[in-house]
Amino acid sequence: MPHQSPSFLHEARFRAWVRRRLLAWFDRHARALPWRRCRDPYAIWVSEVMLQQTQVATVTDYFERFLAAFPDVAALAAADEQQVLRLWEGLGYYRRARALHQGARRLCAKHGGGIPDDPEALAQLPGLGRYTVNAILSQAYERRLPIIEANSRRVLCRFLGERGDPAKSAVQEKLWSAATALLPARRVGAFNQALMELGALVCTPAVPACERCPLARRCRAHRHGWQDQIPYKAAVPRVEE
Ligand code: ADE
Ligand code: SF4
Repeated sequence: MPHQSPSFLHEARFRAWVRRRLLAWFDRHARALPWRRCRDPYAIWVSEVMLQQTQVATVTDYFERFLAAFPDVAALAAADEQQVLRLWEGLGYYRRARALHQGARRLCAKHGGGIPDDPEALAQLPGLGRYTVNAILSQAYERRLPIIEANSRRVLCRFLGERGDPAKSAVQEKLWSAATALLPARRVGAFNQALMELGALVCTPAVPACERCPLARRCRAHRHGWQDQIPYKAAVPRVEE
């Protein structure tokens, strides 16, 4: 096997422990975010595109206004671009708004206005990479597809004791394969959100709150005191005074 995940991930009991602990924590502590209230694939698509480059706290209001103005794919496809851009004003990265609008038109033309339950078809839409496709399909259809973004990457690196540079492709492959091995059979969308939420609320960049972490007992960074060395960061060259 070219990309082995750490050996303990091969133990079914270990994987089951991670799933159970993380999902139980998520059920108690997850923030009540508007896109978590619904399983509407269109709304999830909009939320994930907004969240690509914008923080949760900023996205929530924009998300509600956007959904009120364009409640479904057909409404978004029928809008004119200026209308869409106006609702995006302040979010930045306007390329995303155009991509959503174009995407809605393509979905109407090719998929009857629905979000296809198919990673290859979804990846054809503008502006969607592996993370976003998997985030949408796991939440909307419980597709067993893993996600890695900044928060989940930090959690996994620390939990697995991965000291390598996550910018390197060998490390990335290891992380995707670990995220795949950990996926539960049910509640895939909740599990993916839980990994991100743990990174946002507990396993934070500067000082992770390991004393509140459901995974602490089996976390390698916690065991070895490596929290501040993981994830690996390339040294910033020192500027001569
Ligand atoms: N960041 C990206 N997707 C997210 C989601 N669904 N919930 C919270 N933060 C996110
Ligand atoms: Fe992160 Fe600490 Fe939890 Fe490990 S124990 S995953 S370092 S918060």
